[in-house]
Amino acid sequence: MIKRIRSWWKRKDDPNKVKITSDNIPQHIAIIMDGNGRWAKRRGLPRVVGHQNGMKAVKRATIAADELGIKYLTLYAFSTENWKRPKDEVDFLMRLPQEFLKIELDELIAKNVQIRMMGDKNGLPKHTLEAMEEAVKRTSYNDGLVLNFALNYGGRNEITDCMSMIGREIEAGTLRSEDINSQWIEDHLLSAGLPDPDLLIRTSGEMRVSNFMLWQLAYSELWFTDIYWPEFNKNHLHDAVAEYQRRTRRYGGLS
Ligand code: IPE
Ligand code: IPE
Ligand code: MG
Repeated sequence: MIKRIRSWWKRKDDPNKVKITSDNIPQHIAIIMDGNGRWAKRRGLPRVVGHQNGMKAVKRATIAADELGIKYLTLYAFSTENWKRPKDEVDFLMRLPQEFLKIELDELIAKNVQIRMMGDKNGLPKHTLEAMEEAVKRTSYNDGLVLNFALNYGGRNEITDCMSMIGREIEAGTLRSEDINSQWIEDHLLSAGLPDPDLLIRTSGEMRVSNFMLWQLAYSELWFTDIYWPEFNKNHLHDAVAEYQRRTRRYGGLS
């Protein structure tokens, strides 16, 4: 009884303190950063203000992931379907990587973060691609947290491109159909070199994957929260990781 009161008191005292054990930290967390527009709307502000504030949440999530010892953090920043939005909003979103990197790149370098990018580079404006590529280049020798931005990314496009690569290689005689296996596919997806996400987080209350990492999420644990992305902080990441640590991953087998 006393023990129970004590633990209740502890929780009341610090409601955000959750127990995370250091021996089962997810290696790769992927996040669908959703709800920027609704966050702004709720405050009577233009949608782009939500995106601007979402950038601050990117920084908080990166620092918190690094502190927890997570090795890979993939952030869904712009999908191949987001081009359907009004041009002004798309233009704003395409300027955000530059803005983010202008402010944060030096600190990310100091923190030994390696920046990567996953998505269709051809569809990106030159200024966006150049900023991303410079950040990738300048951090390529870092061996700390891998911060992977999914920019102009679509899971179906990724799989389709992989299939057409297979077709071309078979036509050219450099690949035999019997050599195609899941390892070959993994090595030819945009995420080549990264392990599959252990944990997928989506904010804003939506419970769908919206064309994100369709192949790679096969056995990821999913964690959803109603909060909007601009509100996301260290405590939310800790809640997600604590919940992840309570799950039993069976991969179709028995625990
Ligand atoms: C996520 O927030 C950012 C991107 C998809 C680029 P949204 O812009 O989708 O915000 P909501 O879902 O409309 O609130
Ligand atoms: C998913 O969010 C894409 C990103 C977070 C970049 P959306 O807001 O585009 O997804 P839907 O349209 O609600 O499925
Ligand atoms: Mg959305």
